[in-house]
Amino acid sequence: MSNPSLLILPGDGIGPEVMTEVRKIIDWFGARRGLKFDVSEDLVGGAAYDKHGVPLADETMAKAQEVDAVLLGAVGGPKYDDLDFSVKPERGLLRLRKEMDLYSNLRPAQCFDALADFSSLKKDVVAGLDIMIVRELTSGVYFGEPRGIFEEGNERVGINTQRYTESEIERVARSAFELAMRRNKKLCSMEKANVMESGILWREVVTRVGKDYPEVELSHMYADNGAMQLVRAPKQFDVILTDNLFGDILSDCAAMLTGSLGMLPSASLGAPMANGRPKALYEPVHGSAPDIAGQGKANPIACILSFAMALRYSFDQGAEADRLEAAIEKVLADGVRTADLLAEEGVQPVSTSEMGDAIVAALDASL
Ligand code: NAD
Ligand code: IPM
Ligand code: MN
Repeated sequence: MSNPSLLILPGDGIGPEVMTEVRKIIDWFGARRGLKFDVSEDLVGGAAYDKHGVPLADETMAKAQEVDAVLLGAVGGPKYDDLDFSVKPERGLLRLRKEMDLYSNLRPAQCFDALADFSSLKKDVVAGLDIMIVRELTSGVYFGEPRGIFEEGNERVGINTQRYTESEIERVARSAFELAMRRNKKLCSMEKANVMESGILWREVVTRVGKDYPEVELSHMYADNGAMQLVRAPKQFDVILTDNLFGDILSDCAAMLTGSLGMLPSASLGAPMANGRPKALYEPVHGSAPDIAGQGKANPIACILSFAMALRYSFDQGAEADRLEAAIEKVLADGVRTADLLAEEGVQPVSTSEMGDAIVAALDASL
């Protein structure tokens, strides 16, 4: 049998820097655990624009459709801020999500014990936190029509449309209930049914799907209250299900509960392929971090944890994913910190590459 295939798209800014560290981890699993992947690499975002004039070439899109999983770094940066909207780096990522139909975006937020002191919140509020945000990723206001900037009388109007069909809500809801069944059987759905019709439909459909999962305790919350509750008492949640835009914002918020945006991985999953595994793209929640790009300061953990999610969700290697997560936990417990994680006075930060090496060493020690 051939090796599973992995397409790596490092992207822009710190994307290539953190991906270099992921490559070390992939190589380690190949050499020490016999887990070999057919790895190919291509361009996305500004890097693709610089070469092809578009943020994602058709050939790259076609490759992404064929492989077992895609791993993406980050896209965007100030260099591309003035580009026409249609070729902005972010459009490359949105095209991947849409054309691969990756409707269910899993964004776990887990507070490692060693970082509990470092959260901007009090230690007891976040210690032991382990929640999962399921963000709808291919519809809603990100994609709804009509959209654009139009002339209206003597001024312009900018329009985006929040739009959800019942089937779009149903499929992502099902994926969230399935996850809840494998976790603590508790799901909170967030929308704004008090002011948005799409929210009313969302709540109705989620409630209906919930009837197929009677063991799951389902609750509903307005998303604004949800944002407040996430900061007030995040451990009341287990799985949170929400739409594309609310999910974008709530997951950045959840990131700070864990200590840094540099810690948060994600899996964007679609329907099962012929081999039974979901179509999948794995990417950190953070962006290209132009403020620290090129300085060796980026925390590679979010991207490495995204590869751990690939091991779990695409390659049926849950035990190896556990091994990788445990190695990261050990490194953090040993006090190894990139600059974003520095809490204690006098502790010297390690570089991106030193953090990758420390994780490889912890993997060696796990054998
Ligand atoms: P960002 O996530 O890039 O950065 C926000 C802050 O977090 C910055 O101070 C940055 O230094 C810090 N940070 C982020 N990741 C880090 C890491 N791994 N280690 C240490 N610190 C880290 O968000 P932004 O500044 O709003 O956006 C910058 C660019 O990235 C924009 O072009 C935006 O569109 C893009 N973006 C891309 C993605 C993606 O590719 N998935 C996600 C978000 C933003
Ligand atoms: C994310 C990012 C993206 C989003 C951008 C870069 C398109 O913020 O993955 O969270 O808004 O979905
Ligand atoms: Mn975001």
